[in-house]
Amino acid sequence: MKHLLTIEEQTPKTLSDLVNSAADFKLIRDSHDKPLEGQTWGMIFNKASTRTRLSFEVGVHELGGKVIFLSTNDLQLGRGEPIKDTARVMGRMLHGLIIRTFAQQDLIDFAEWGKIPVINALTDEEHPCQILADLLTIQEIHGSWEGKKIAFIGDGYSNMSISWMWAAKHLGFELVLASPKRYQPPASFLERLDAPNVRITDIPLEATSNADVINTDVWLSMGQEGQEEKEALFHSFQLNELLLKQANKDHIVLHCLPAYRGKEITEEVLEHHSESIFQQAENRLHAQKAVLAWLSI
Ligand code: CP
Ligand code: NVA
Repeated sequence: MKHLLTIEEQTPKTLSDLVNSAADFKLIRDSHDKPLEGQTWGMIFNKASTRTRLSFEVGVHELGGKVIFLSTNDLQLGRGEPIKDTARVMGRMLHGLIIRTFAQQDLIDFAEWGKIPVINALTDEEHPCQILADLLTIQEIHGSWEGKKIAFIGDGYSNMSISWMWAAKHLGFELVLASPKRYQPPASFLERLDAPNVRITDIPLEATSNADVINTDVWLSMGQEGQEEKEALFHSFQLNELLLKQANKDHIVLHCLPAYRGKEITEEVLEHHSESIFQQAENRLHAQKAVLAWLSI
């Protein structure tokens, strides 16, 4: 049984095949190929979402399937029914599950007990669907990620930065991650990652200098509400014009969104790079159609 729980578990070939398949889905948006015909997928979301929910609902529909959106508050799960019971019920009625939640272990449990494909729609540890859309955007604009310098500025140990590090490990591009020391990935993680092409710094200019792609994300991820004191450490990591001055001439800026202007990115930088950022957002749909088709086989 195939799942998409992490970027970590994927092979380089699976990642590039999915990106190429996403590009094909984008070329023919209304393909007559309906791999989800007759299927019903469930979506369990424990956190807010605009792009992920929208792109999955539209994506399942365009592939010929039906989707049921389930919020935890409406399920007995919210009243303490264990995942292993919920998953066994869902596995007997649904063809796949798309889950946004906090703990990665919850996804693993759904996959184990449900015995149907499970897609990670964001956890505290990874955001694999977003990375596939980001890779597609880079391929479209720069031709390839090969030989490119990719920078990530912001929280160095969040779902987005972790998924980026695994993508760099598998695909071999140079990734420089700039983050305040306190929010850098711990040594135990870097040992497990074991990727000499991933460099960590607390000097944002080291990451952006000569970079081809510059990524950022919110300083406070969902679930970190109330930790606003964290933001004080990030002020020099704001993506502004000064930080982009030494980037390569044809650099692009990516932001998975939602963006907080005046915090991780300035209004000027976001609007100047809105073309690549909203192309990236649209690519969620095409990337996830590729994932759904891959898992439905
Ligand atoms: N980038 C992203 O996952 O957006 P949503 O939180 O709106 O789904
Ligand atoms: N790191 C962010 C990503 C949002 C798409 C969060 O988890 O809130």
